[in-house]
Amino acid sequence: IVIVIIAVVLGLTLRQNKSEFESTFLSRCEKFDQYDCKKVWDAFQQAYVNKDPCKVPVEAYDPLIAAAPFKPQCNRMMFWSKTKDVVHGFTEKRDCFVTLEDTLLGSVLDGLTWCGKEGSKDTFTNGCPGWSDCENNTVRSFWIRASAAFADVACGNVTAMLNGSINTPFNPTSIFASVEVPRFIASRVKNLNVVMVIQKNNISNCTDPSLKNLRQSIDTGITFSCKDVSESQIQECGSKPEIACGACW
Ligand code: APR
Repeated sequence: IVIVIIAVVLGLTLRQNKSEFESTFLSRCEKFDQYDCKKVWDAFQQAYVNKDPCKVPVEAYDPLIAAAPFKPQCNRMMFWSKTKDVVHGFTEKRDCFVTLEDTLLGSVLDGLTWCGKEGSKDTFTNGCPGWSDCENNTVRSFWIRASAAFADVACGNVTAMLNGSINTPFNPTSIFASVEVPRFIASRVKNLNVVMVIQKNNISNCTDPSLKNLRQSIDTGITFSCKDVSESQIQECGSKPEIACGACW
């Protein structure tokens, strides 16, 4: 009896957030018109439900991407690495740039943790593997797949905000470097404009050697530029809609 009670309590604890997760997913999704959120939810679930949470390959999310495809938004697409708060603080105030997290799939899953379990139809939010616990983990595979799909539709002038307060602003292991940049193709993307976010105690800027690697790794035919811009200048642009976005930096 004790074992049964423990099993039931454990089962309930692991299940408790299931409906909360699904309702968060659906309510965030419903802010976007033109999508059938129930269909998107079903396509999402099939990627990981009833699977070992460490055995969800990137391709498991292909049907999800097909159910909620990314639309190209030429000249407005914004990529980033280690600048999440600055970038989103800016894009939530001004709509001249769009990040992955401003799209349907990115905004629905931003900040969430989920996974499945072999032999179960449920979605769990506790006990899921962390980002680096295993290679094919449920959450990481999603962000890699979504980032690839978002980069695949990049076009025109593409912007990326990198962090001047770290040693290697363009880090080869980042999603930006390893997944997104290799997908920028010259037939679609004209320029890659890096905005180096400079804070008070910055330790790098556009002259950093890692930026040379970035310049060298982009497809020939895509022009490259980099500009050091202070964080306060970015914030000011966010709070002053009368400044044209193109004139912000
Ligand atoms: N643990 C948990 N989450 C992580 C980890 C980690 N160790 N590393 C990355 N992430 C997730 C987080 O959600 C984090 O906010 O990826 C996000 C971006 O991580 P960064 O290292 O800051 O940047 P990068 O790897 O370059 O990815 C950012 O990918 O999300 C897309 O289009 C987006 O251009 C952007 C890029």
